[in-house]
Amino acid sequence: MSQIVDMSPDSAPLSFRPDYLGHRRSDELKLVSYTEPRRRRINHALQQYLSESGGRPKALHEAMQYAVLGDGKRVRPVLCGLGAEICGSKLDDVLPAACALELIHAFSLVHDDLPAIDNDDLRRGRPSCHVKFGQALAILAGDALFSRAFELLVQQRQQSGPAPTMDALQIITEATGTDGMVGGQVEDICAENKEGDLETLEFIHSRKAGSLMRASLMVGATLAQGDPATVELLGKYGWAIGHAFQIVDDILGETSDPVSLGKPTLNDRTRGKLTYPRLVGLERSQQIAEEKITEATNAVTTLGAEADPLRWMASYVLARSK
Ligand code: IPE
Ligand code: IPE
Ligand code: MG
Ligand code: MG
Repeated sequence: MSQIVDMSPDSAPLSFRPDYLGHRRSDELKLVSYTEPRRRRINHALQQYLSESGGRPKALHEAMQYAVLGDGKRVRPVLCGLGAEICGSKLDDVLPAACALELIHAFSLVHDDLPAIDNDDLRRGRPSCHVKFGQALAILAGDALFSRAFELLVQQRQQSGPAPTMDALQIITEATGTDGMVGGQVEDICAENKEGDLETLEFIHSRKAGSLMRASLMVGATLAQGDPATVELLGKYGWAIGHAFQIVDDILGETSDPVSLGKPTLNDRTRGKLTYPRLVGLERSQQIAEEKITEATNAVTTLGAEADPLRWMASYVLARSK
């Protein structure tokens, strides 16, 4: 695997819930030592990419940096680098694309917090972008982050060549559009204050979170010119852990607190959101998350030791404290 240099200070590492540590303690230690240098590399690159276009309008650049450079876990760019590593490349070879995925994720969070969507005033442990900069600027900063992401993808062409970059672009546009993240967000809003069912919930959660995680792994693997069968397996894994990630998000929203999570809790209930705990209770929600994690790890059993971080990551998604 690649040699990675620590380049910038960083936020707290990915951590497991104490009640889940048990036999997963070794997964936590291995995951932290795998992800930490990569998160630092990604944070440094994000800082660089967002300062390149400096200048006017100053407030727009400040809002974009505020949205991205806070205390994010960087799960998606880490997955993108991992997809590349599994296919014989390095995080550095796909860094613009990995950061593009984080910019798209950050844009989705800025818009998700807006009064018109979830109306949440806390994100990554500080005021949400619209609370700090106002709604107009938050909307436009989200738009500009999306656009900057595609600039980075164009830049990726210099490292990966035109054909793999076009394939990566296609994966990302599908994952973010009507059939992906945005589609999931719309169904999420439409399901508010309705009875709902598991099929709708599955649709929402796999698209809200699964589509971008699936795309992250597939983009890394595609840019590294991995074989199509491996790219497909990684996609399956990403889809399933994304779904589990969102179920655990619902659970943490009920059982954790804003200081630990860095975002509000119990808001899902007040907004009448369709969530797993609301539909099937906390215990069954955790079981379904476990089933999704098993589905994810089963999808990659044929991959060798280079795919071990996928196994530690699966364990993290289930047991995460934040
Ligand atoms: C939050 O994603 C939105 C969901 C899909 C649940 P993360 O939990 O990855 O958020 P950050 O990037 O660490 O803030
Ligand atoms: C956010 O989902 C998903 C996207 C932004 C695509 P949620 O609304 O459930 O997540 P949080 O709790 O605000 O992070
Ligand atoms: Mg939401
Ligand atoms: Mg939200």
